Amino acid sequence: MSTPLLIILFVGGSLFTVKIIYALSVIVTLPFSQGAFFVSTSRKRISAVLNAVPMTNNQILIDLGCGDGRVLRMANKQFGITGIGYELNPLAYIKAKILCMFVKNIHLKYANFYKEDISNADVVFCYLFPDVMKTVAAKLKAELKEGAYIVSCNFKIPDFVPETILYPKGTLQNDPIYLYRN
Ligand SMILES: C[S@@+](CC[C@H](N)C(=O)[O-])C[C@H]1O[C@@H](n2cnc3c(N)ncnc32)[C@H](O)[C@@H]1O
Repeated sequence: MSTPLLIILFVGGSLFTVKIIYALSVIVTLPFSQGAFFVSTSRKRISAVLNAVPMTNNQILIDLGCGDGRVLRMANKQFGITGIGYELNPLAYIKAKILCMFVKNIHLKYANFYKEDISNADVVFCYLFPDVMKTVAAKLKAELKEGAYIVSCNFKIPDFVPETILYPKGTLQNDPIYLYRN
């Protein structure tokens, strides 16, 4: 077999394997995530959030479903915040663990965030899907301290009134980002 064909087979096979692992990880987590599968927020959109929400290095940012942990890493780099991320997609969690390995003050837990206490958060970030927003709203209402910021990418949180809505320029999708103050 020729070398170029071998390379094509190797690359194609690897991509196929990654896709299969990704699909499996989504299926495994579907009963808990109710469809909120692992899609990352773009760095431009995260930057827009970080420019709009004031944070200081003694504060705690929690990402409900942290994916690969990029929101926590970027906020940690910009403000020195302590980041806490909960994730139940094994693939996303492993990726986050690797990428955050050398970043101080980021704590990742393989867990269903509904079962975690978020009352110490100064800022809560989420990019979750509409089906779960009612349950998320109830959790925020029950646990979050007064004055805490809530950031919700793309989808509104029922029963909360946004302080600001961002439409970051230059991003592929011009979807809204809702900023709330508890
Ligand atoms: C759309 S992704 C967003 C990832 C990341 N926050 C970002 O903005 O780049 C939503 C993530 O939430 C996770 N997720 C959904 N429901 C969850 C739950 N109940 N507990 C923990 N993680 C959850 C999914 O596995 C997925 O990785």
